[in-house]
Amino acid sequence: MLSIDILRKEIEQEIGNLGFKRAPLGLYEPIEYSMSLGGKRLRPVMCLAACSLFTDDYAKAMPAALAIEMFHNFTLLHDDVMDNADMRRNEPTVRAKWNDNTAILSGDEMLIEAYKLLSMTDTPAFSLVLSTFSDTATEVCEGQQYDMEFEERDDVRLDEYMEMIRLKTAVLLAGAIKIGALIGGANDADIKSLYDYSIDLGLAFQLQDDLLDTFGDEKTFGKAIGGDIMEGKKTYLLISALQKASAEQRAELEQWLTAKDAPRADKVAAVRSLYESTGAKEATEKKMEELYAKAMNTLKLMEISAEGKRFFADFGDRLLKRKR
Ligand code: IPE
Ligand code: IPE
Ligand code: MG
Ligand code: MG
Ligand code: MG
Repeated sequence: MLSIDILRKEIEQEIGNLGFKRAPLGLYEPIEYSMSLGGKRLRPVMCLAACSLFTDDYAKAMPAALAIEMFHNFTLLHDDVMDNADMRRNEPTVRAKWNDNTAILSGDEMLIEAYKLLSMTDTPAFSLVLSTFSDTATEVCEGQQYDMEFEERDDVRLDEYMEMIRLKTAVLLAGAIKIGALIGGANDADIKSLYDYSIDLGLAFQLQDDLLDTFGDEKTFGKAIGGDIMEGKKTYLLISALQKASAEQRAELEQWLTAKDAPRADKVAAVRSLYESTGAKEATEKKMEELYAKAMNTLKLMEISAEGKRFFADFGDRLLKRKR
């Protein structure tokens, strides 16, 4: 079994070989920029690692792993337009460096590039790989739509939030692992367990992303802190804060949330402090740890090699402790 770092290195190398230095530069430069800026490469690592649980020839999953990373980066280009975000991976987002139209069109091309990469997959399970990829992509769009709709609602429940993040985030991690396992020749039971493991891990991952968006360190996280607060995102933090608040705290929170002209730093600091005093931060951390424990339990019950279990346990551990 390989290490996370070795897999990541192999992926970086393959991404470097994709080569988008061609005309029209306005279309391809942002693709090169987005793909070469690093990022954690979690999804392709999961895809290759899942494949390697079932075959030594895990390189068979490389085109699909690259397709998934390309798809992920495409969603980020469009997500940053939708979220008015100007910083990612400590650099200007494509919309900020170029403009929204560039993010839209280069993003569109990245989705097409993703399918071109996927089509290079050589496996008897190709038709299942293709339908898993497309069904996953549809779910991500559904999740992103709910995320936007929730910005306009003030009655979003925690269960609705959990379903929204399952769609926008968890299914892509789970799809990556499922596609890798399919290419590796896994049986249905193993695929189901790996899928369940990565859905729970993906939910925990998005809760951590929301926590870091509010409480993280900007330099380490690489994104502007407070974006979710400024955009009125209905996060687990916000929904729990509204549930747990005293009448006085609720009034204060609502006042800050609707304060359109308040300076960003003041608004973010005030809401952050209410997330702490209402216990919303603690509730979010608890939920994240529960999901992580559930994922680890699913993993423990699986009939895969001890080495494979150690890999995915370590992977989950790193995700939970991440600061970026
Ligand atoms: C960002 O994903 C989008 C979310 C689902 C929170 P990552 O945190 O995996 O982004 P990169 O690729 O490492 O930058
Ligand atoms: C992103 O959720 C989910 C997708 C891109 C599909 P976020 O909007 O929280 O991701 P970041 O924080 O911008 O990376
Ligand atoms: Mg965003
Ligand atoms: Mg978003
Ligand atoms: Mg976020």
